[in-house]
Amino acid sequence: MNPLRYRVVAMMCVLCLSFQAQLVRAQSSSITVQVDKPGGDISPTMFGIFFEDINFGADGGLYPERVKNRSFEFPEPLMAWKEIGRADSKGSVTVLEANPINANNSHYLHIEVERASAGFGVTNEGFRGIGVQLGESYTFSVYARNVAHAQRNGDALSVERNPVTLRIELEDENGRSLGKARITGLTTAWKKYAITLRPSATSLIARLNVLAEGSGAIDIDIASLFPKGTWNNRENGLRADLVQLLKDMKPGFLRFPGGCIVEGRYLKTRYQWKTTIGDLTDRRLIINRWNDEFKHKPAPDYYQSFGLGFYEYFQLSEDIGAEPLPIINCGMACQFNSSELVPLDELDPYIQDALDLIEFANGPVESSWGRLRAQMGHPAPFNLKMMGVGNEQWGPQFIERYQQFAKVLKKKHPEITLVSDSGPSPNDDRFNFLWSKLRELNADIVDEHYYMAPGWFLANSGRYDNYPRTGPKVFAGEYAAQSVGIASPNNKNNWECALAEAAFVTGLERNADVVRMASYAPLFAHVDAWQWTPDLIWFDNLRSYGTPNYYVQKLFSTNKGTHILPVLIDGSPKNGQQNLYASASLDKPSGEVVLKVVNSGASPREVKINLAGAKTVRRVGQAYVLASSDLKAENSLEGPTKVAPTKRPLTAASEFNYTFAPNSLTVLRIGSTFR
Ligand code: AHR
Repeated sequence: MNPLRYRVVAMMCVLCLSFQAQLVRAQSSSITVQVDKPGGDISPTMFGIFFEDINFGADGGLYPERVKNRSFEFPEPLMAWKEIGRADSKGSVTVLEANPINANNSHYLHIEVERASAGFGVTNEGFRGIGVQLGESYTFSVYARNVAHAQRNGDALSVERNPVTLRIELEDENGRSLGKARITGLTTAWKKYAITLRPSATSLIARLNVLAEGSGAIDIDIASLFPKGTWNNRENGLRADLVQLLKDMKPGFLRFPGGCIVEGRYLKTRYQWKTTIGDLTDRRLIINRWNDEFKHKPAPDYYQSFGLGFYEYFQLSEDIGAEPLPIINCGMACQFNSSELVPLDELDPYIQDALDLIEFANGPVESSWGRLRAQMGHPAPFNLKMMGVGNEQWGPQFIERYQQFAKVLKKKHPEITLVSDSGPSPNDDRFNFLWSKLRELNADIVDEHYYMAPGWFLANSGRYDNYPRTGPKVFAGEYAAQSVGIASPNNKNNWECALAEAAFVTGLERNADVVRMASYAPLFAHVDAWQWTPDLIWFDNLRSYGTPNYYVQKLFSTNKGTHILPVLIDGSPKNGQQNLYASASLDKPSGEVVLKVVNSGASPREVKINLAGAKTVRRVGQAYVLASSDLKAENSLEGPTKVAPTKRPLTAASEFNYTFAPNSLTVLRIGSTFR
């Protein structure tokens, strides 16, 4: 570089640095945490998880079955399956109903092989392909029976029962073999067979072939390919990487199974928990309500096998240390769709479902539903403490139905907290009507939903500062900033949205005496099979990642503390001044003050932190910083932690300065005692 250019560049750098320093100084503020004035407790269930089978969240996602339409129960019974024949093989495949495994699984595949040659049968495409991993083992299992086969010898037709062998093959998208195994010894009775496949390579979009060898005929049903490496290595277990992401959040609760899926488009396709438990062969498949919800995102192959059913949801809650929160249908189908209603004098079976669910979860092993739980492998109760009545209902119709449920449930199970709801919007007439009624009824906790623009979340950080302190509590049950608009397929899980949510969540935490629970929604989305965006966690057939929004939730959830501490920004409880939002808590077990600060401005912000009333302050603390200079930044399968927290040491004192990065959420943990 020539000397003149060098001098100009150096001068510019100096100017730039001093401008930055001035900027930080000019914008300096103070945050006072009133350490000696701990307020109400923060519920252990404060931050949790909202699970719904949307975006292939269950089948094709958390439930790691690789075969789509494994039991041939889709209305188009061969959907996902295709006939294949090797060399000059000849035969036919049909879906039959005579003598099925059982009435809930009334269809099966009949393979008739006239000339087996190198193999004749079917191939399954999986859920947008089949993910298989080198080094992992997969169990292929199938119910099968050898059946009579009409054989033509010249003009004469004879009935034979030849022994047929099944050859199970995995192959990649180019038809290269990834492994095979055989099933022999079929009898004429339905029987379950299983073999293990160890793929010779990794593929995200493999396929599975089921081929008959030898001419004859067989029936097959519930053809399954399942990884052995599930969460806790359970048979019929859940996808380990996804459960790990959930567990890492240390969630206070797990809400399931939704969401609108509870309601169904029609009452006959509502979620009925009793059809989702017991042996897999007994679980009755139904359409997924997101199958045909969005014209711009049709998913004609989206059904619910219920391999992940209510038993598994309870088990998952236990595995990740979350309180189970099942939601039951209250006699209303989705009001965005059919709005079908169960007449008030016909609600009893619905209320009985709720009572039976409590018995299934908590009843002694001598009770009928408790016995079933024990038979499924869990004699100990699941300790159910809360239940949702209806999902996102509105109008007097909901209030009337809720009242009937509450009357019975409160009498028979006063120990169960009932979750009611306030409709789909956080501030319309439906919302106001429901809240006024639920207040009159002294409901336990009311679910509020917010699918709003990022600006709304910033502007509403103080939403609960003046909420009534008596009456029903708040469950911030579904929130997600929409970068474009509600249910737009162009919404992004970008840092701008996540940061706005963080500012809002400081408001939830500041008011944790009123807001007892909170969850982002929806939870999961398959990158090739989603209907709704944004979502907290994205995955493909083998990989997964948390969005910036996930890391916001995780930072709050893993740093929640036990008691609210009052916070003042520049001496005022108001948030959002100079782009600063803050909440603080005391974590009694560790004796730490936990301060969360959002700086939604584009400049660094030096802030004087004052731990008012602190007697002692540990010098060494920790800072967790989630920041990006790019508000449009997103994480992805290839860059899963582009926006992710970093941990830094912190030098603390009862008064100290801290510079909050531009566009950041920072969590400071400081050991302290107070006067
Ligand atoms: O989270 C997606 C949907 O949004 C939920 O199913 C419903 O409760 C809300 O309308």
